[in-house]
This record gives sequence, structure tokens and C-alpha cells, in this order.
Amino acid sequence: MTNKTDRIIIFDTTLRDGEQCPGATLNIDEKLVIAKQLARLGVDVIEAGFAFASPGDFEAVKKIAQIVGTENGPVVCSLARAIKADIEAAAEALKPAVNARIHTFISTSDIHLEYQLRKSRAEVLAIAEEMVAYAKSFMTDIEFSPMDAARSDPEFLYQVLERTIAAGATTVNIPDTVGYTTPSEFGAIIKGIIENVPNIDQAIISVHGHNDLGLAVANFLEAVKNGARQLECTINGIGERAGNASLEELVMALHVRRQYFNPYLGRPENSQESLTNIDTRQIYKTSRLVSNLTGMLVQPNKAIVGANAFAHESGIHQDGVLKNKLTYEIMDAQLVGLTDNQIVLGKHSGRNAFRSRLKELGFDLSDTELNKAFVRFKEVADKKKEISDWDLEAIVNDEIQQAPDLFRVELVQVSCGSNARPTATVTLRTPEGEELTDAAIGTGPVDAVYKAINRVVNVPNQLIEFSVQSVTAGIDAIGEVTIRLRYESKVFSGHAANTDIIVASAQAYVNALNRLYASLQTQEKPQEVTAQKV
Ligand code: KIV
Ligand code: ZN
Repeated sequence: MTNKTDRIIIFDTTLRDGEQCPGATLNIDEKLVIAKQLARLGVDVIEAGFAFASPGDFEAVKKIAQIVGTENGPVVCSLARAIKADIEAAAEALKPAVNARIHTFISTSDIHLEYQLRKSRAEVLAIAEEMVAYAKSFMTDIEFSPMDAARSDPEFLYQVLERTIAAGATTVNIPDTVGYTTPSEFGAIIKGIIENVPNIDQAIISVHGHNDLGLAVANFLEAVKNGARQLECTINGIGERAGNASLEELVMALHVRRQYFNPYLGRPENSQESLTNIDTRQIYKTSRLVSNLTGMLVQPNKAIVGANAFAHESGIHQDGVLKNKLTYEIMDAQLVGLTDNQIVLGKHSGRNAFRSRLKELGFDLSDTELNKAFVRFKEVADKKKEISDWDLEAIVNDEIQQAPDLFRVELVQVSCGSNARPTATVTLRTPEGEELTDAAIGTGPVDAVYKAINRVVNVPNQLIEFSVQSVTAGIDAIGEVTIRLRYESKVFSGHAANTDIIVASAQAYVNALNRLYASLQTQEKPQEVTAQKV
């Protein structure tokens, strides 16, 4: 293998680093749905999780390896600390994948060595080398990350990279773990590695970075100019703290400005060939799926996938765009799949039309899922004459969202108005199958509904985020409600879509409570992974 590859490898870590942000926790089925979509998007590598971290993580990596890790599918990867038990768990979970990778890491910065690992440089060097060799005994594709590389002593970093490549690492990943570096500094780190690590031609140079100073994407682009060929990123930039480098921003920057980047990859400046394998038309859909399932909203002004990213408000801009799109637009919204929103179905559409449109949209549902989604579709079509692709996506995402079905909303009724005290009655079916009804008064209808639900479920929690968005324009649009609530130090999210936003609000709240309730019941304890918390 060589770092002279003339295209950029996209390594998606939405399901590992992305899932580490508070409240973004996904269950196995949701992870699988996202992994399938990432495969459709065309990512080269999916970091499916951290197999050793918990039995749930292990199962998720295994299932994704089984179902998405096919011959022509992406490489499926699991994270593992530079510890034998972690590496063994990763190797075991990855067994079903045709193309698998173990990604092992250990910190190399002095600050991490002194305060976190309490190990000397010599000890870390020996562990890194030994654990890469151990990982290599399970498979050929091995990635090694010197964590906090951007703040590590360059000479020590070169030494660690040389030894881990010699031990079998085929990709060496350079993380800016704390989002501290600047573009020119990061570019210089990559350049230094190429110039000072004698066997660097035997590995791909990858980069990984967090967005604490809002520089992650800029840092990566500078790294590409200096020889990095794999980018580790997440959908919508989700991840620890300020998140990771955003996949959609990187891919579109490399696409829209390919003439600028081509020479750095040894291509003729005017080459129109794509620099990545990503099918850009799948970007918007993937972004919505990840946002819906994780409950992490996309800010309206977010580049590429934000609601306003292609909206022109000012008269001067609108005038220009009407005369010639290129006056104020550097890329076509269709390129990211944003305007493929045809009106496709209505209340007379049958199951076959429903099934085949979903297939065209890339949804591959089981018969049971299809039946459930079809019932929802009919309910929505009764209220809303025209069903667009985005409505279909909202319906299906809602149906396949796998919040544990413990409490169920059976009835929501509200009374409110200008001179009324907002009052709600709710009936929930309990996990034991009992129907419980209660009522409450609130400051508004949603508050009243939530208070009534709390009286039934009786798990104290704090609502920290509530948002309503409409899927399409129009008074009959489907409303999507996303909520996040806190219980002790944990955050749980819930999402639901309905033409009635009060019903969607109740459903989203119950979804989040179900996740909370399930976690209280199982108390699934992650194994001790804090010593080198990623
Ligand atoms: O941010 C980081 O350093 C990581 C490593 C495990 C790659 O996530
Ligand atoms: Zn990270």
C-alpha cells in the first residue's frame, strides 16, 4: 500500500465518535439503518463502534459487519485501545465482514502520558508496537492512531509511526484530539511525517480532528494538500464536544473546488473526475436520517445540509439567481440531493406504488416494517393530499426508529386557546399492557401533555431541548418534533413525525422516556473504558 493514492478515502466515524456525544446514543437497529445508508452514500470505511466498550457496541459492530460488510461493501472497522482484550473483542466482532479493519490507538502527547496513562515514552512506544503486531495477527488491515498527535512531540511521533508501520499498520491516523491545531500547523505536521518517517510510503496517512475552534474541516483540507489521503469524519459533524470534521463539508469542498485540489493529488488541474467515492446526491438524505435517529438537530445555517444552505433571502441575491444561478450559487442543491422532492403519492396510491417508491429512495424494509409504514402512510395521506419523497422519508424514519416500545401513546387530547387553561388528557399503555389515563394543566398544550405523561410514567427528568420543524412547506405539512431530556448525568433523545404536532410532541417525549426507562431497567454498564477515554 502507498500513501500516493490519487483519491481521498472517506472514513466515516458517525457510529463511533459521532455517537459519543451526549444523547446521540443509538440502538443496534438504528446503527444498522445508518450503516446501510452510509454504504449507499459510498463511504470507504465505516467505523461501526468500539466493540469492547459494551455488549451493545459489540453486537452493533458484529451486525454491521454481517450485513453491510459484504464483498463490494465498505470496510467495517472497530476501535480498540492498545490493549489485548480490546483488540480481541474487535477482531471477534468483525469476523463476519469481508473487509475488516482494527483501529487501535494510544496517546502520544506528554500531557496524556503524564496525567492519563502515567507511562513513559519508551513504554508507550513498546505498547503501540506490540499491540499493532497483535492486531495484525487477526487481520491485514490495521489502523493505528497516536492519540493527541497534534500536541505530541514531533520526534516522538515520527518514532511511534515508524515502529507501528513496521509492526504492520497499513493506515496511520493523525488525530487533533482536542481541536487545537490550525490549518498551516496541521499541514506542517503531515509534511513533517512524510519527510521524517522513513517507511511512510507503506501506509496511508489519515487525519482525525475535532471542531473545538471550528477549524476541523480547514485543517483536513490543508492536510490533504500535504499528503493525507484518508479523512475521518461524521455526518453533520456530530461528535465529542464541538463535534468532528463534517463529512458533507469535506466532500463538497473537495468536489466544488476539485480544480484547486487536483494537482495536490497528482491529477491534471482540469480533471472532472471525483476526488472521493461519495455519491453526493445521498448527502441530504443521510444527514436527515442521522439527525432524526440521533436527535441531534442540524443548525439552519449549517453548510451543505442546513435548512438555509441554499435559500436566498435578499432581493439582490434572488434577482441574481433568477437571472443566472451562478451569480450567487457555487453548487446546485440537486447535487446534494436537496431538491429531489417530488410529489409522488397520494391517498389512492397502493402498497405496490408505496413499496417501489421506497425502494427507489433506497429503503430496504422487511415485510413487517413495510406493513407498519404503509399503515402510517395511509393515515398521513388521509390528512395530507400529496405525499412527497421527504414526507415518505419522515414516515419511514419514524417507523423504523427503534426506541424501545415500552410505554405507548394511545390517546392525546388537549384543550387550549386564548382564554383557556391548557389542559391535556393522555392515555398510555404501560410495558405490562395496562392502560393508564391521567390529565394535567400546563403553561401551553405541549407542557400540559408532558405533565400528564409524567404523571403516568413517573420518572423525574429535565426537558433540555424541544424543537418542531416542518418536513415540507404548507399548512398540512408533517411536523417533526425532536426532544432531548436529562436524567441525572445522561441525555436521552426522542423524535417523532405527525401531521398533528401535539401528537408528535407526545410521541417524541414518550420515545425519549422509553430510552430512559430501558436504560434504568437494564443498567447496561459499559466495561471500564475510562482509563483512556477516547
Ligand atoms: O479524537 C481522537 O483522538 C480519537 C481517536 C481514537 C482517533 O477519537
Ligand atoms: Zn475523536
